[in-house]
Amino acid sequence: MIEVKDIHYAYKTQPETTKAVSGISLYISKGRYIAILGRNGSGKSTLARMLNALILPDMGDIIVLGMNTKEKVNELPIRKKVGMIFQDPDNQIVGTRVLEDVAFGPENLGYEREKIIQAVDNALNQIGISELRERAVHTLSGGQKQRVAIAGVLAMKPACIILDESTSMLDPKGQAELLAVTEKLNKEEGISIINITHNMDEAKFADEVYVMHKGTITLSGTPSEVFTNVDKMIEAGLDVPQATKLLYELEKEGIEIKNLTIDEDEAADILGRLLK
Ligand SMILES: Nc1ncnc2c1ncn2[C@@H]1O[C@H](COP(=O)(O)OP(=O)(O)O)[C@@H](O)[C@H]1O
Ligand SMILES: [Mg+2]
Repeated sequence: MIEVKDIHYAYKTQPETTKAVSGISLYISKGRYIAILGRNGSGKSTLARMLNALILPDMGDIIVLGMNTKEKVNELPIRKKVGMIFQDPDNQIVGTRVLEDVAFGPENLGYEREKIIQAVDNALNQIGISELRERAVHTLSGGQKQRVAIAGVLAMKPACIILDESTSMLDPKGQAELLAVTEKLNKEEGISIINITHNMDEAKFADEVYVMHKGTITLSGTPSEVFTNVDKMIEAGLDVPQATKLLYELEKEGIEIKNLTIDEDEAADILGRLLK
């Protein structure tokens, strides 16, 4: 669905340029739940902005549902198909009331009034926030604002939603609710999710995890494959689950572990066997 072919991007700041993405290729198929991990400055947001045509690669191509992001005529259709939720809940509010905020996208697409109202009500329903319909957005919690933002994206019938550290400013409850929404949209509507996150626990539930480091992808695979590659994770400046870390440290001490795991029960079994 989204094909990324050897893309490069540098910010042309004076006096020097800053390389942000240096040769990334990947394929995101329909209905997948993807997590992207990486420390600050590794290029995650730059990649995300290129996926929905907010910026264009200096080299390489991104093809979204057959449309190259580099062609101007594709810009709007791509923005409609690939929605983006940002980090700061207060930075993406466009309407005073929830209803108007969610309607903004479909209005911009030139839908008729009836169709706009329907799209808004459907989106609020799907996210489970119909009761917020008439509320003033500034009275909502951060988590509610982020769900309103997702409803706004959803009203445009996206094929993919990118969350760029969208849970990072929320309290645990807000984080859990936002995550639950992304999982529901993924499972029930088949919408691809790309969750850029600092939170390891969020990445554990993804179908595929990509690790970014200095503008490239240094590790990818299932959560289990990625988190048990402790050396590469450390190199990228990232943590691994505590159970995995413990087994890894034991292995470094010369104790034979055979298979590292991210599963706490499995780790407990391994430790139990060692202690016998
Ligand atoms: N608007 C910008 N102007 C100049 N440099 C930028 C800009 N945005 C990001 N960068 C630089 O590009 C690199 C990648 O940044 P970014 O994509 O934001 O990483 P991440 O999202 O992983 O924190 C960093 O070195 C960052 O300082
Ligand atoms: Mg970022």
